[in-house]
Amino acid sequence: MFLPPRSRARFYGRSTNYQGVLRDAVLGRITEGDDVAAIERTLADYLGVRHAVCMPQARVGIYFTLSELTRRRKKVVLSPYTIHDVINMVICAGATPVFADIDRATCNVATDEVARLIDDDTGAVMVTHLHGLACDIEGVTRVCRDRKVPLVEDTSQSFGARVGGRRLGTFGDAGIYSFGMAKNVNCLYGGLVATDRDDLAATLRDELRQLPYTDSSILLRRAGFCLTGDTITSPLFFGAATYWAFRYGYLHEVEALNKRVRGEDAPTIKRTIPENYLRRMTPMQARLLVPQIPEVDRLAAIRVGYARIYDEGLAGIPAILTPPLREDGSHIYLNYAIQVKDRHALLRFLMTRGRDLTVQHMGNNADYECYGEWHRDCPAARATAGQVLLLPTYPGYGEREVKKNVALIQEYFRTHAAERPHDAAGRAPVASARAATSQRS
Ligand SMILES: Cc1ncc(COP(=O)(O)O)c(C=O)c1O
Repeated sequence: MFLPPRSRARFYGRSTNYQGVLRDAVLGRITEGDDVAAIERTLADYLGVRHAVCMPQARVGIYFTLSELTRRRKKVVLSPYTIHDVINMVICAGATPVFADIDRATCNVATDEVARLIDDDTGAVMVTHLHGLACDIEGVTRVCRDRKVPLVEDTSQSFGARVGGRRLGTFGDAGIYSFGMAKNVNCLYGGLVATDRDDLAATLRDELRQLPYTDSSILLRRAGFCLTGDTITSPLFFGAATYWAFRYGYLHEVEALNKRVRGEDAPTIKRTIPENYLRRMTPMQARLLVPQIPEVDRLAAIRVGYARIYDEGLAGIPAILTPPLREDGSHIYLNYAIQVKDRHALLRFLMTRGRDLTVQHMGNNADYECYGEWHRDCPAARATAGQVLLLPTYPGYGEREVKKNVALIQEYFRTHAAERPHDAAGRAPVASARAATSQRS
């Protein structure tokens, strides 16, 4: 038998957030105050940019930014390995997605692919810094400068990461951040566009000025959802009840349970921006952000510490493709995303042995039928989409839990010798299974 594990995920933010939401709701103050302007100044300082413009969600920031940048030239070169609503935002902006294949190790777009796909009709390149890992931002910035193409960074999963002392999201024309529930800064819903461009900031502000605030009832429902999530994933409750339900759901394929914890639904195309996306962040949400910003770097350092333990234990196993270990602040490991050929066999083993983990549900958008008219063959994204398993790194997870994951994964690969290794580039090996086995022993 085993002691129940900690949950695979926890929300960021503080318990006092709920008091803040409740107080503002009771006093009717959700939309009162100039806190959005104040947090925009704080965030502009933190990121080191001229303008920070709050958004109702990151995806809306992507929509407005790309609408502006692709007025004349319509193509947007981007990674196909991201949430599908990002692709929808490109389409809603009236632009054409051009899928550039990824680098397997970081799961982020490959610079040489970007360079190859830029042409005279490219209005923007949009990179993603997925799982808290910086893409090759210096390389892509050079390419975009040389080719005079605007660069947008989807930094939704990497708020606070730095390359060469500069925050991700500030290398190009615009950086977009998410403050949604599952992010390292959480104000229920929310996002930000950071830019040094006065013209872009002015356009974004003009667009937002006309919009209503996010509905209080939606925010209250979200807060209730978050509070329920916090409660059922708190260590005591989780160990006593939630874990067993998640485990049963996974091991017995109970869709009604599994769909509740799945990050992504089946993709559907949107061609016009949904009316309910067109909202403004409320002052109440801005107030929730205030105490979180000074904590971002400290919490990132804890995640990097966990990444080091995962790396020490797993990077030497040929059948696992691990993310690069960087401890200079450029990789802040929102999760530690490993890639394994038969990830469900491994996950089954781990769940059976008392772990609570999940696969990454994000898919390769370049292959989805609904985006068929923009299909491009992206073999690395296709392989990655079927192989990513997310290992937790949230600060309260604890080194003991990280070490248990490592020990069990090591045990799995010791006892399941038929798992085939990745080659250095993370591609499926050409070697036979027998050669693969001998390579490991
Ligand atoms: C990589 C990426 N881009 C964009 C988004 C959209 O963020 P939001 O939910 O704030 O619109 C997400 C959200 O999960 C994301 O993971």
